[in-house]
Amino acid sequence: MSAASLIELRDVSKYYDGNVAALDHVNFEVAKGEWVSIMGPSGSGKTTLLNILSCLDRPTSGSITVAGMDLAEMTAAELVRFRRETIGLIFQQFHLIPYLSALENVMLAQYFHSMADEAEAADALRRVGLEDRLRHLPSQLSGGEQQRVCIARALINQPRLILADEPTGNLDHENEERVMSILNDLHREGNTLVMVTHDQEIGEMAQRIVRLKHGRVV
Ligand SMILES: Nc1ncnc2c1ncn2[C@@H]1O[C@H](COP(=O)(O)OP(=O)(O)O)[C@@H](O)[C@H]1O
Ligand SMILES: [Mg+2]
Repeated sequence: MSAASLIELRDVSKYYDGNVAALDHVNFEVAKGEWVSIMGPSGSGKTTLLNILSCLDRPTSGSITVAGMDLAEMTAAELVRFRRETIGLIFQQFHLIPYLSALENVMLAQYFHSMADEAEAADALRRVGLEDRLRHLPSQLSGGEQQRVCIARALINQPRLILADEPTGNLDHENEERVMSILNDLHREGNTLVMVTHDQEIGEMAQRIVRLKHGRVV
């Protein structure tokens, strides 16, 4: 693995229940500081790939190295810890806790990582333009606002890698622009981003596009 790569996949395949390969001998690398889009039609394996990168799932075969760690050698508990410390996840379905405020949702991520810090959590929400929404519940926020809470939550522990699955999939045009401008800033600050999208225009904002078809890189 070259010193500059943050992610390296070698011959990664994933079979669900012995069916056709959701991922079929996938190889690729992501350099530190790079912004990569993963594109491809529905069912091509994009979410499967992101779940494997985010340690939510394991491949059937092949090897994955993230930040110098071989994920196959880690126990389930070590993977959870590694994910909390290394990776910031942004989902299309926001997965906010419905009975916690915006601020508390971000503080919960801090708590799982180390220690909750209200001032720091409020700062993260300020950064995504939500300083007036700290005490709102997810149900009291628009889709765009909820997605920005998710971004604040993903960033709060300074992850080395940011993974986003269709981050603008549920947003109107105005919020899509806001979210993409935040991701663009993150990239310019030196963060590494891997983003799944089926939207060509969004995909092209990255430095490089990896295209999947039937679980293969094309
Ligand atoms: N949990 C699962 N169990 C069985 N098959 C699955 C599961 N998740 C995805 N698949 C199958 O794997 C393939 C890739 O799915 P997915 O990674 O979700 O694609 P994409 O995100 O590109 O739409 C599809 O054929 C899908 O039906
Ligand atoms: Mg998907």
